[in-house]
Amino acid sequence: MRLSKLTAILLTAAVLGLGAGSVSASEDTELKNEHFSFEGVFGTYDKAAAQRGFQIYQESCSGCHSMSLVAIRNLGDLGAPFYDEEHPNANENPVIKAIAAMFTVTDGPDREGDMFERPAKPFDHFPSPFANEQAARASNGGALPPDFSLLVRAREHGPQYIYSLLTSYEDEAPEGVELRDGMNYNPAFKGGQIGMSPPLFEDLVEYSDGTKASVEQMAHDVVTFMAWASDPKMEERKRMGWMVMIYLFIFALLMYGSYKAVWRDVEH
Ligand code: HEC
Repeated sequence: MRLSKLTAILLTAAVLGLGAGSVSASEDTELKNEHFSFEGVFGTYDKAAAQRGFQIYQESCSGCHSMSLVAIRNLGDLGAPFYDEEHPNANENPVIKAIAAMFTVTDGPDREGDMFERPAKPFDHFPSPFANEQAARASNGGALPPDFSLLVRAREHGPQYIYSLLTSYEDEAPEGVELRDGMNYNPAFKGGQIGMSPPLFEDLVEYSDGTKASVEQMAHDVVTFMAWASDPKMEERKRMGWMVMIYLFIFALLMYGSYKAVWRDVEH
């Protein structure tokens, strides 16, 4: 009897402890309740979606949004979109090398004190599209495209919010809403007006795995990628959480067994 109580307590603790980090369904009516593979206690990143999402980031978003905390080699780490069991060291992963080769970074200063450009290496961080905040604002009508590194975690209901933002643009603002110059109507954005023009449109990219590039699909994929970028250690953390719970459970059984053994001959 006591044992089953103990089991129940441990299991409840496991579910509460591991579930705490997952996203609960949004109650905000403006957010779409899109489901993602990485939600919940057992959730992991859908690697195919994250790879497609990287393509979207690279071909569209990276023109305005930086992702400065992420190194190119991180894409090949355990739990990352391009992790390869045959090349667990991301620096040796041919896909990572090929991705690095697509970027140019500014390095230096050299002996003359000048900065110079060179092809990126896996250890480099993703280069930013603008030299500084002022340049970013000047190119975007005064609005600042936020860095992607932690964005999913920085916004409430991050995955659902960003998915909704990307799929809720409307060509015309409803009557009574006066759009400011250069603004776009998007009911998912606070205030309904956003400085970013719709970044996704049907068939914006051609997916190499044959997936149809609808706006919803691309939004889902890029959010999966951004969620990974915001929390690259999530899978490791969940796995560790379960190991600890299983360890504690076995430990509790052993403790119970020894308690029984010690008190076996004692008269009550
Ligand atoms: C032409 C430049 C440009 C491109 C390309 C672009 N964005 Fe943006 N983005 C912006 C700007 C500017 C803002 C800030 C808007 C504002 O504050 O009004 C922004 C804001 C955002 C936000 C933040 C909203 C918030 O809550 O602050 C998200 C999320 C976002 N963009 C996602 C994306 C994604 C995903 C892509 C690629 C599919 C993308 N953007 C492509 C310019 C761009």
